[in-house]
Amino acid sequence: MSVAEKKYAGKAYNSALEKIEAALEARRGALVLAKMEARLAEEALDVTLPGRGRGRGGLHPISRTWRRIEEIFGSIGFEVADGPEIETDWYNFTALNNPENHPARSMQDTFYVDLNDAEGKPLLLRTHTSPMQVRYAKMWVERFRHAEKVPAIKVIAPGRTYRVDSDATHSPMFHQVEGLWIDEDVSFADLKGVYTDFLRRFFESDALEVRFRPSYFPFTEPSAEIDLQFGAGPLKGRWLELSGAGQVHPQVVRNFGLDPERYIGFAFGSGLERLTMLRYGIDDLRLFFDGDLRFLSQFS
Ligand code: PHE
Repeated sequence: MSVAEKKYAGKAYNSALEKIEAALEARRGALVLAKMEARLAEEALDVTLPGRGRGRGGLHPISRTWRRIEEIFGSIGFEVADGPEIETDWYNFTALNNPENHPARSMQDTFYVDLNDAEGKPLLLRTHTSPMQVRYAKMWVERFRHAEKVPAIKVIAPGRTYRVDSDATHSPMFHQVEGLWIDEDVSFADLKGVYTDFLRRFFESDALEVRFRPSYFPFTEPSAEIDLQFGAGPLKGRWLELSGAGQVHPQVVRNFGLDPERYIGFAFGSGLERLTMLRYGIDDLRLFFDGDLRFLSQFS
């Protein structure tokens, strides 16, 4: 290019360069601004909104009852034991003096497992916590087999139990607590005293309507059912069976490994769902197993 041409072209080149740089600058600025605005919008904080704290869990009403029972019986010297939910025919029935043809042994009442025990009998889901009487007592007697006297057996065994049963007051899985007190001089009067005292403490009331109604169990003699009257709620005035109980049958004491002429005592087996229903005035036991937070959160 000639000098004159160079002068002209250089000017044009510089002004084009400036325009491009200005355009780039403007675009860069717009992008930064847009990014900042988007970020501000995303992180906007409304300080007037209520806090979003995490919900707190609570104990299931049956767990509360379970703990309460352990606390009350623990305070009067009962040990707490637990054992298998899959049981042998011997512990669940035979050792408890159930005859071979007792209806509780039928397929309609008991869940059987597709496995046999050492005697070739099918295992089952325990239908009550009473096998724990035998398991615990045998363990205890074995421990003191060289002693002159076997010390008092005084135990509760809370846990899950299973029966083919389902309505407003029965569910296929439910909870019981077994109680057993054996010594040389434990009587039916002790059963009445201990159990009534337990109920008073459990329900925090001395004005309870408790009824010991004559009944039958193969493993106790005499036997009773213990009923309590609803004091409040939709079932006010109605009696609910809480517990089976009685003086442990001599044959069962023998199965513990003890001499029934010397050792005597009582046993009871109570329903935890029943106790909980009475305590809170709940009329349908299925509510315990629905997992509905509107029900459960009332207890936490
Ligand atoms: N096992 C009995 C039941 O489930 C209750 C019971 C326990 C009765 C101990 C007497 C003694 O019905």
